[in-house]
Amino acid sequence: MKNILIIGANSAIAKAVARACAEEHARLFLLARDSALLAVQKQDLEIRGAAAVDYAPLDVTHFSLHEAVLEQALDTLGSIDLAVICHGSLPDQARCAEHFDAALEQFNINALSTISLLTLLGNHMSARKQGCIAVVTSVAGDRGRPSNYVYGAAKGMVSQYLQGLRGRLFPHGVHVVDVRPGFVDTPMTAHLRKGPLWSSPERIAQCLLEGVRQRRHTVYAPGYWRLIMAVVRAIPDALFKRLPL
Ligand SMILES: NC(=O)c1ccc[n+]([C@@H]2O[C@H](COP(=O)([O-])OP(=O)(O)OC[C@H]3O[C@@H](n4cnc5c(N)ncnc54)[C@H](OP(=O)(O)O)[C@@H]3O)[C@@H](O)[C@H]2O)c1
Repeated sequence: MKNILIIGANSAIAKAVARACAEEHARLFLLARDSALLAVQKQDLEIRGAAAVDYAPLDVTHFSLHEAVLEQALDTLGSIDLAVICHGSLPDQARCAEHFDAALEQFNINALSTISLLTLLGNHMSARKQGCIAVVTSVAGDRGRPSNYVYGAAKGMVSQYLQGLRGRLFPHGVHVVDVRPGFVDTPMTAHLRKGPLWSSPERIAQCLLEGVRQRRHTVYAPGYWRLIMAVVRAIPDALFKRLPL
């Protein structure tokens, strides 16, 4: 993969992906909200071996800017071999349950912004008849839980969207990977108590890049989450609704 676009590039998982790609001398274009942090990351990635690193600011909820910012990335990279979408936000579920505005804000960040970006990237890559899109969703999208269903519904929407997009882009030689991490130790989860099922952002980055290389469809990251989620999905609703999840 030579030319790589990373959206949500200041996330811990995205930074681990970028570092691994830099070590393979990729050319990177980074999009995230905080340009000062992107400038620091650029220096680090160049030292690690990136062929070139460019960046631009993007708040993903500013949908009207998506087209222009992707054009800027394309002008700089020439073409995109791999696009990684990694931004996200863990909502205050209790607030979202009571106030639709709060839920809408989370759907905009975690689902609709991604779908807008996927529409543009899908059009570009299908016209070029080449490329790969990897999106970080979540195991939370596999089943709605009382403590987390706005986040889960947003991630689940993206996963369903990716299934259809994958089929649409397949005849055009474009591959789509849905990366579903379990618990990852990042700033997003800094307030949560950690346990044996937790992974590092580097482990998730490895799973993502391996999934891209092997042209996998759905990557549970790490892989043991595939089994855990198969069990979780198999629990009947009559029992599931009684569980303190
Ligand atoms: N950590 C986990 O346990 C876990 C589990 C499953 C899936 N995931 C997913 O993994 C991905 C990466 O998250 P992470 O764990 O690496 O957490 P993180 O380090 O907190 O990264 C989240 C990133 O999303 C960015 N973001 C939020 N709202 C944005 C907006 N409106 N516009 C642009 N960027 C925005 C944040 O930008 P700023 O830096 O500007 O705040 C931040 O860099 C997310 O999609 C997350 O849902 C995480």
